[in-house]
Amino acid sequence: MLTLMLAWVSLIPSILLSPTKYLWAVTTTQSFTLAFLSIPWIFLQNFNLFNSTFLVDKTSAPLMILTCWLFPLTILASQSKLINEPINRQRTYIVNCSILQLSTLLAFAAADLLTFFIFFEASLIPTLFMITRWGAQERRLTAGYSFSLYTLIGAIPLLIWTLKLYEKYGTLYLPTMNLLPQTLTPGSYELLFWATCNLAFLIKLPLFTFHLWLPQAHVEAPIAGSMILAGTLLKLGGYGILRTSFLIQEPATNKALYILALATLGILATALLCLRQTDLKSLIAMSSVSHMNLIIVAVLTCSQWAFSGAMIMMIAHGLTSSTMFCLANTLYERTNTRTMIVLRGTLTMSPLAASWWLFTILLNMALPPTINFNSELLMMLAIYDWSILSFLLVALNLIATTAYTLYLLWSTQRGPFPKHINTTHPLYTREHVLLTLHILPTLLLILKPELIMM
Ligand SMILES: *[C@@H]1O[C@H](CO)[C@@H](O)[C@H](O)[C@H]1NC(C)=O
Repeated sequence: MLTLMLAWVSLIPSILLSPTKYLWAVTTTQSFTLAFLSIPWIFLQNFNLFNSTFLVDKTSAPLMILTCWLFPLTILASQSKLINEPINRQRTYIVNCSILQLSTLLAFAAADLLTFFIFFEASLIPTLFMITRWGAQERRLTAGYSFSLYTLIGAIPLLIWTLKLYEKYGTLYLPTMNLLPQTLTPGSYELLFWATCNLAFLIKLPLFTFHLWLPQAHVEAPIAGSMILAGTLLKLGGYGILRTSFLIQEPATNKALYILALATLGILATALLCLRQTDLKSLIAMSSVSHMNLIIVAVLTCSQWAFSGAMIMMIAHGLTSSTMFCLANTLYERTNTRTMIVLRGTLTMSPLAASWWLFTILLNMALPPTINFNSELLMMLAIYDWSILSFLLVALNLIATTAYTLYLLWSTQRGPFPKHINTTHPLYTREHVLLTLHILPTLLLILKPELIMM
């Protein structure tokens, strides 16, 4: 852990000091080193590594590795867009990006609930910089406002709740809290109590009806922002819920029935909403919301299978949706549009990119041997066990998912040869490497999914 922290911290002077010509080479190399340094955590899983500051266990290690792994990829993805900007702006961009990833990493690694809270909220600031300074359109300011508004509304109850827990148990150290008698006795306002406690996490995930900030933020953010948002920031919410799941055991399902119903509805509604999107990035964002709501439903049923499924889903979705944003970005960089109807027919221009699209979309749809499928299966089984009605509703989602997957493929790839965009360059090697590094872990994990089970 210390090695890694040193590596992260040393990244900042090297970004600020490295000569202009080598800025991207140096930062990319260094961030890849960092990603590889984080890999050993995967072998630490049955041996809990914790001290008073850090906690690396089955719940946090996969997400921490994901964070470290995505960092070089975000650097790789933003290169071509930023290379034309003034050098100082490039440097602040990378510094902001690394601070964002670092605070996410520290939130995952924190052994203390309050430290977790601090870094959870700290990630807001660099994200806000990314969206408002490097976003493409004027509306980025609105997106920034609503993003911070939603996050801060969630923060207050979470802080109060954390302090209450401290008052009650006298500790916020997570390994100790796991051992405490698991009773939350909030009196007769159980649902309200539970909901306000977890509001911050539910907003971050986001729960349907609290999701409005997400498509906006995704659409306005630069590519690295989108990748980090989809890849790790949303997972902070999921991690928060999983981490505090020892508090929401058995009776939670009844306490949170309304939330469960809302999330079940949300899975379906957002999947159907995907069919109505015209903007490529906002479609991908909506499909993330659908997946994240499935996690909420599953986690609230409080079974071990659901927890494992949710964990796998977070990793699988982090990699897959980040890939989709990269693909959307390759189109955006070439054509300067995200409107799907304008992008029709790109298959005829670059078939290789189209095969990447097909592959990624199939992963997102959870095609059988992939870990996405694994996770959905585990969660669906847990939901089936809990209630057949809810299972049927969730199963309907499969139809909607297939529908929007086909819609995405049809409306961006198929169609007549696009005469207005016939001067684009096929995918660069850098982009192929980027996509491969996203997909490769997903494929490797098929062989041993228990590595990321909780
Ligand atoms: C992040 O970006 C903002 C906006 O450009 C900049 O003012 C700030 O200095 C950056 N942060 C760091 C730590 O460089």
